[in-house]
Amino acid sequence: MADLATTYMGLTLKNPLIVASSSLTGNLEGVKQAAASGAGAVVLKSLFEEQIAAETANLSQHAADAGHTEAAEYLQGYGAALGPETYLQLIKDSVAAVDVPVIASLNCFSRDSWVDYARKIESAGAAALELNIGLLPTRSGQQGRAIEERYYQILHQVKSALKIPVALKIGPYFSSLAEVAATLGNDRAQAPTFTVGWCGPGETTPKIVWRKADALVLFNRFYQLDIDIEKMEIVAGNPLSSPAEITGALRWMALLHKRVASDLAATTGIHEGRDVIKQLLAGATVTQVCSTLMKNGFAQIGRILTDVETWMEQKGFTRIDQFRGRLSQANSSHPQDFERLQYIKLFVGLE
Ligand SMILES: Cc1cc2nc3c(=O)[nH]c(=O)nc-3n(C[C@H](O)[C@H](O)[C@H](O)COP(=O)(O)O)c2cc1C
Repeated sequence: MADLATTYMGLTLKNPLIVASSSLTGNLEGVKQAAASGAGAVVLKSLFEEQIAAETANLSQHAADAGHTEAAEYLQGYGAALGPETYLQLIKDSVAAVDVPVIASLNCFSRDSWVDYARKIESAGAAALELNIGLLPTRSGQQGRAIEERYYQILHQVKSALKIPVALKIGPYFSSLAEVAATLGNDRAQAPTFTVGWCGPGETTPKIVWRKADALVLFNRFYQLDIDIEKMEIVAGNPLSSPAEITGALRWMALLHKRVASDLAATTGIHEGRDVIKQLLAGATVTQVCSTLMKNGFAQIGRILTDVETWMEQKGFTRIDQFRGRLSQANSSHPQDFERLQYIKLFVGLE
């Protein structure tokens, strides 16, 4: 019999399938259903800082005023912040109700809020905390390095304040993702430089002990924008992913496995058992699913797990660590498969 058990950020999971942070896990009923359907863990819907919620409300109002009702509904849905008290109660109730790890999720904006809310979340009993750093800089004038420093600073602040494990959910948009991931994902004798404040003049680099994130979650799927050519309007893109979207996170999973000491969680485009298997072969510690559950219901969890188990048995594996990362670049006898040559082959037709 295949044993799907794994550890993630020091937590023991009966399998590597986690229900991702979303409206599915924004209420106790959803958390109970996720656990009853066999998920290895749940990540609760993010607690958004009120400021972001207010901004979202303004944005959605703006969209509604402009007649973009779909966009307004989406924004309201995505940004509908549970108040902190309701959220903390959801953590307590979930922990009491289910026997799988309950990971809370936080999405903040201002510097001090991260730590304030993170401490409250820890006290409420969450097994771990996932930080969703949803920065999507769209204007010029912000240097790439300054944006990276915000990630370093948020991680440092929260890690220093908490005892529970901390995961960082990041997007793919960095000029050197490999370097940022290596910084966030490894302990270092010498901390990366960043300023204490984000904009205060004269603030200096602190002398700190640098501790890695317990996990990196690859990748955040940002709000999608589309255009209705009939109405000639900006509209919300599909909030749900397609299976084709797995490739971005899959590639980086394979590149980062063994290059970062943090655990790696895969999210975006994982819809079926074979997608979970691909991510594990690439090097994922665990996988997270959202869109496929929204499309197919919580029963999809059981189908995915059965498919993973069946595949393992067919291949003669009894444990995940017998094949995890087998197709990562670090374990590959053809590391060049991941590099520029493949790109050239594809476009120039070289043999
Ligand atoms: C309706 C909806 C709500 C979401 N809410 C959150 C959230 O509160 N926090 C978060 O970190 N991610 C949120 N996500 C993103 C998911 O956690 C996940 O990373 C993303 O949907 C990609 O995974 P998938 O391809 O399995 O859907 C949300 C996604 C959807 C579709």
